[in-house]
Amino acid sequence: MNNNILTKIEDHIGVATLNRPKVLNALSSELMDELIEALESFDRDREVRVIVITGSEKAFAAGADIGDMAEASFLDMYEKNNLARWLKIKNVRKPIIAAVSGFCLGGGCELAMICDMIVASESAKFGQPEINLGIIPGAGGTQRLTRAIGKYRAMEVILAGKFLSAHEAFEAGLVTRVVSKERFYAEAMILAREIAKRPPIAVQIGKDAVSKALELSLNDGLEYERRVFYSLFATQDQKEGMKAFAEKRPAKFEGR
Ligand code: HXC
Repeated sequence: MNNNILTKIEDHIGVATLNRPKVLNALSSELMDELIEALESFDRDREVRVIVITGSEKAFAAGADIGDMAEASFLDMYEKNNLARWLKIKNVRKPIIAAVSGFCLGGGCELAMICDMIVASESAKFGQPEINLGIIPGAGGTQRLTRAIGKYRAMEVILAGKFLSAHEAFEAGLVTRVVSKERFYAEAMILAREIAKRPPIAVQIGKDAVSKALELSLNDGLEYERRVFYSLFATQDQKEGMKAFAEKRPAKFEGR
């Protein structure tokens, strides 16, 4: 472990902080290994109900580490297939909130977009500037950005290297909420605490069902939703939630 990622657990929230400040949290291969290990460990830990990924006030992450890639050949990239491991982040079942300030570029923007919600500081800058390096996004940028903001704005970001300010990103539907640069982490934690109070299995199944909306046809998605909806009636949290409502008291959810 090289401390490229700092982790802590607080109030049922697992926090992973990107920690390469000298290079604006460029996503080296080692950093990605550590991040995935941290996220998978949070996902296994019953104590953790929500995950927050953050960086510094100056940068969430300025992209993949360009130094790692500059001399690579097609064969190096193809054989290492480093980007395939990003699927492990997509497969995390607990909700992930990106708390973003400053530069959120290239692989950094793709990392934020794999998350389920993005709380952005007003100083955040989102972009996919890979085109300036002779490449295109490779960890979901062309797909997730297009789904989030539509083809015509995504083309400008990806082909012309346009950065989106936090407010532009919010208007375009890329960001959950914009807050002051002093408050981005605190507000992400407040949102995380709100979710952590909710029944954990229903939260995870809700994340799964919303995510399916981007992958399935409407009919398949509706059927999927119905099935997972019925399955929640097998949980104690459903019994507790409805009983607490009838008894006019707060529910006590235990993730069972
Ligand atoms: C490696 C990086 C880096 C990166 C910044 N640094 N971004 N190192 N990889 N992606 C380093 C700089 O070399 C510099 O190191 C230090 O961080 C501070 O950066 P500066 O450029 O001096 O800061 P500033 O002038 O404020 O400009 C900030 C910036 C610029 C606009 C964000 O750094 C920039 O354009 N970075 C590259 C952004 C980018 O192209 N991202 C896409 C990468 S490709 P020294 O040692 O000089 O102080 C990608 C592919 C994704 O992400 C594929 C899937 C993962």
